[in-house]
Amino acid sequence: MSSKRKTPAGYATVDLSLLQVDTVVDFDIYIWPTSSPLPVLYRSKDLPFLHETRARLAETDNPQILVKHDQSGVLSRYIEKNLDRIISSPTLPTKAKARILYQSSLRLVQDILDRPDAPENFRRSEDVVRNTIGYILHGKDAFHQLMSLTSYDYYTYTHSVNVCTIGLALAEQVGLRSQTELMDFGVGAIFHDVGKTRISPAILRKRGPLTESEWQEMKKHPEIGISLLDPDAPFSEDSTAVILEHHERIDGTGYPKGKRNGQIHQFAKVAAIADCFDALTSRRTYKDAVASYPALKVMKEGIGTHFEPEYFRVFVHLLGK
Ligand SMILES: [Fe+2]
Ligand SMILES: [Fe+2]
Repeated sequence: MSSKRKTPAGYATVDLSLLQVDTVVDFDIYIWPTSSPLPVLYRSKDLPFLHETRARLAETDNPQILVKHDQSGVLSRYIEKNLDRIISSPTLPTKAKARILYQSSLRLVQDILDRPDAPENFRRSEDVVRNTIGYILHGKDAFHQLMSLTSYDYYTYTHSVNVCTIGLALAEQVGLRSQTELMDFGVGAIFHDVGKTRISPAILRKRGPLTESEWQEMKKHPEIGISLLDPDAPFSEDSTAVILEHHERIDGTGYPKGKRNGQIHQFAKVAAIADCFDALTSRRTYKDAVASYPALKVMKEGIGTHFEPEYFRVFVHLLGK
């Protein structure tokens, strides 16, 4: 009988389903045979991972597959590069796919917030958004699986991923069906708060109400966000509208421009609902998280002033599905 052992110090366990046949696995793969006190090197990095390699691994008794901690960054990049194949893997359970997708998205957004204008960010965000779309549209339970993983604690990077996930599901429900529309929405959502990286942490984490000057500073983050994007990356106008207009309100009391209903981009109206919902349902240093239903009750006050009524109705229906 195979017993589950604790992962040895210095290693991380890897699910065999993550290792894709015919890819160059650029990290060392270790196994830990029951007969051995320590993990042993199974396959050196940079060797192709073939059907035979996988089959032999699968046949190994108690095939606990391990990667050294110092190569976990390489493993993350490998997963991101092969995310489409991992997400469509027939052997990986939906819940595991959701976890891998969410973790990949979090890593990407952390990198974006560290270096917003890095040239590879746009393409990487497209890959993650494409896979999120594929995953969400794949099955009825997929969205709820992803929702169950969304971080409880609020950080700009978790928030950005949550707004992308929740927003994509809502966008699809309100009629954005083409791949281009959903991609543009998702990329915009991933980057929507990138401007917050230039707002003072003292303002972002302040417990009490903001002073007038702090509030004026905070209101700059959508426009700062646009200025931080790589000018050579092909962001569409639809994507930049999400960044620029996600705090506009349909009664004209939002920011930065105070646009009214008809002037606000459709994508930004969808993002505004996902943005507010995630902000309410996450825990911050200065406030507890609110559960979904009470959050919707709070948001209901904003129908017709903050939010597009029809989109809000669809959102309530989406969460209740
Ligand atoms: Fe924002
Ligand atoms: Fe936001």
